[in-house]
Amino acid sequence: MISLKGVKKSFGSDVLLEDISFTVEPGERISLLGPGGCGKTTILKIILGLLNPDSGTVELMGKDMLAMSSDTERRQVLRKVGMAFQQGALFDFMTVRENLFFAMEHMTDFSAEEMDRRVKELLQAVKIGRTEQQYPFELSGGMQRRVGIVRALATDPVVAFFDEPTAGLDPVTSTIILNMIRDLAGKTAEQALVVATSNVEIAIRFADRVVIVHEGRVVADGAWRDLIVNGPEWVRHFLSVRLIGLDEEYARELDLPGQFIDRYWHQGGSHP
Ligand SMILES: Nc1ncnc2c1ncn2[C@@H]1O[C@H](COP(=O)(O)OP(=O)(O)OP(=O)(O)O)[C@@H](O)[C@H]1O
Ligand SMILES: [Mg+2]
Repeated sequence: MISLKGVKKSFGSDVLLEDISFTVEPGERISLLGPGGCGKTTILKIILGLLNPDSGTVELMGKDMLAMSSDTERRQVLRKVGMAFQQGALFDFMTVRENLFFAMEHMTDFSAEEMDRRVKELLQAVKIGRTEQQYPFELSGGMQRRVGIVRALATDPVVAFFDEPTAGLDPVTSTIILNMIRDLAGKTAEQALVVATSNVEIAIRFADRVVIVHEGRVVADGAWRDLIVNGPEWVRHFLSVRLIGLDEEYARELDLPGQFIDRYWHQGGSHP
């Protein structure tokens, strides 16, 4: 579904991405994780063909995004993609309903009835059914995020990206939004989902597989439950620091490995 090989990207003399390679299969769900500013959003932009890498190859749904000669061709591919940007990116001059219709009109062949049905069903699913006729500026930050996520999924994309879907939201709203993505999405066996975040808890709640980016490289790619115990030192540390302060009950809810809980909650284990 997605394939990056040896992707390199510099801005001026700053090398941001040194060597990024990973693949995502149909039906897979992954978290693209890394510290703030490590290049997650840039990687998503490169996958979508909004930004060209300096070298490397990028395929989306089997299509070489860099070799595409025309915008029409690129748009054909992007029609099947859902994207919830880090910054809301809703049209301020359109109501919530119009924002969702706009996406579906441009990206699908749904009938007007189908679009209407989807708007109502999806907004209700995320508990903001009454916002249909409101404008984005009338909504709270959390509500705007929900609309952005609904918009990314309303078109039944083959692959969907969510960039920091919970940034700046309180923990309760964050959990609602994350569950929402999982509930709304994955309806078809083929659909691949990518969440980009710097928040470890969000990343591990969303997917079993994490792709971790640090200093321009993929420093880990695999099951976080394994990496948190057996990964390289920097990876273990990065995954652990935000978690070991949590209440044990909550840590168990996250389904952290027993070995990890024993070490840090029971034996007064030292810093990972
Ligand atoms: N178009 C651009 N021109 C110059 N520098 C850029 C550009 N886009 C991104 N950068 C720089 O690249 C770095 C990484 O940006 P990016 O947004 O990809 O990181 P991120 O991992 O998504 O960060 P965050 O966790 O804050 O969302 C930043 O230092 C940013 O200033
Ligand atoms: Mg970002």
